[in-house]
Amino acid sequence: MDIALRRGFIWPSFEIYGGVGGFYDFGPLGTILKNKIIQKWRDYYVFGEGFFEIDSPSVTPEEVLKASGHVDHFLDAMTECQKCGAAFRVADVAREATGKDVEGMSRHEMEQFMQEHRVRCPDCGGELGPVFDFNAMFRTTIGPGAKRVAYLRPETAQAMFIDFKRLQRHARGKLPFGVVQIGKGYRNEISPRQGIIRLREFTMAEAEVFFDPDDPHHPKFSDVASEELRLWLAGDQERGKKLLNEVTAEQAVKKKLVCNELMGYYLALTKRFLIDLGIPSGAIRFRQQTPGQRAHYSAETWDAEVSTERFGWVEVAGLAYRTDYDLSRHAKSSGEDLTVFSADKKRKVMCHVVEPSYGIDRPLYCVLEHALVQEKNRTYLRLKKDMAPIEVGVFPLISRDGLPEKALAVYEGLRGKGLMAEYDDSGSIGRRYARADEVGTPYCVTIDHQTLRDGTVTIRDRDTTRQIRVGIEKLSNVLCSLLRDEVSFMDAGEAVKKRGGS
Ligand code: GLY
Repeated sequence: MDIALRRGFIWPSFEIYGGVGGFYDFGPLGTILKNKIIQKWRDYYVFGEGFFEIDSPSVTPEEVLKASGHVDHFLDAMTECQKCGAAFRVADVAREATGKDVEGMSRHEMEQFMQEHRVRCPDCGGELGPVFDFNAMFRTTIGPGAKRVAYLRPETAQAMFIDFKRLQRHARGKLPFGVVQIGKGYRNEISPRQGIIRLREFTMAEAEVFFDPDDPHHPKFSDVASEELRLWLAGDQERGKKLLNEVTAEQAVKKKLVCNELMGYYLALTKRFLIDLGIPSGAIRFRQQTPGQRAHYSAETWDAEVSTERFGWVEVAGLAYRTDYDLSRHAKSSGEDLTVFSADKKRKVMCHVVEPSYGIDRPLYCVLEHALVQEKNRTYLRLKKDMAPIEVGVFPLISRDGLPEKALAVYEGLRGKGLMAEYDDSGSIGRRYARADEVGTPYCVTIDHQTLRDGTVTIRDRDTTRQIRVGIEKLSNVLCSLLRDEVSFMDAGEAVKKRGGS
């Protein structure tokens, strides 16, 4: 978090006014990293799966969210301190005090639990008041006056249900088919205390996979069938067992540990996506939500969780079997017939939905934490090369003798070739390498006196700190090949003997 704040990844929003809990800005490097995560997600879901992407408003009329169940069910149990007035989410304050999970309990049971375990205000030790429901949506009105109530969307998903008929025509009636949306979601969290992990405004990337309930088959399931999954079943959690079931995606489906083949497929795809971001497979598990934890629309939910040092296991994606809940509710509420023909055109069906829904902000935190390497002499982010916000640093060895001019020309040339390069001439060369390491820049190019003599520069590799020399005319091609792992570092140029401090 220190590096993230100091080096322009993330910082609290509205900072000069004291900040507001649950809101973070992405700085220049954080914005690039976030866009890279989004682009990779698109690579999986839009290019890989062939899903259609849409883009709809955040402001959502009340009737939509009434039909979807969010007005009545998107509730958090809260309580307030009788002494200092601080508000708390009951599940959080109970877990912090007792380590136990009260989600799924009735409000009355929660109150009893809080009394029995003498849970007090974590801020001042005061007594906590009654438990009551708080709707976590931000409410607003459309136009002047209070007549047209609306909410900021709590999920991007609803637009994909509302637009279902148009989308299904766009898919030319094919089933299954998928739609995605990437955009902001809003939840008026009661007392967000976990920095970027619990935001009130956050970026989501959601896919809705519409399928015939009699045919929950994924055409590419065989591609992921052997992917190993670590599953923590709801029943085991309820029995207090920490045991993880280690099975392949195929076994998970065959043993009916997951509801259907589509769910098995998207669990495996989620694991691949997270690994592709740079998260080690050993830090990934799938936790099945217990019935009390599930959202009102879901018959089965799996949380993809990543182990972190700072926040423990963090949910980064939720995969829900939404059945025909949303389409049926919207059909009833709007009066539109949302049934479609089955693949064999013999039956009319209300499609069922499996929804892989990802946060973008949380995986970003996990990527940074897992990339951090602290060695005796240096700290660096071992980001995957395709995730690094800056691809190459360009430095003049010293700030005289014409080296800065030459280095600026190299820098401009690399930017002109589409490489995300950063020029730095401030402080010693060792300090500049250290700064580049700290933000995960995989390669640094240094222009020195030899450059003026023979037109070659050094390239330094972040992970090994080794250096090679290459001619400027080949530099962009060499860097592109290195960034794409098409060539090994030491084969890409002439080895340079190590100099001190670099
Ligand atoms: N659409 C999933 C969620 O709202 O969490």
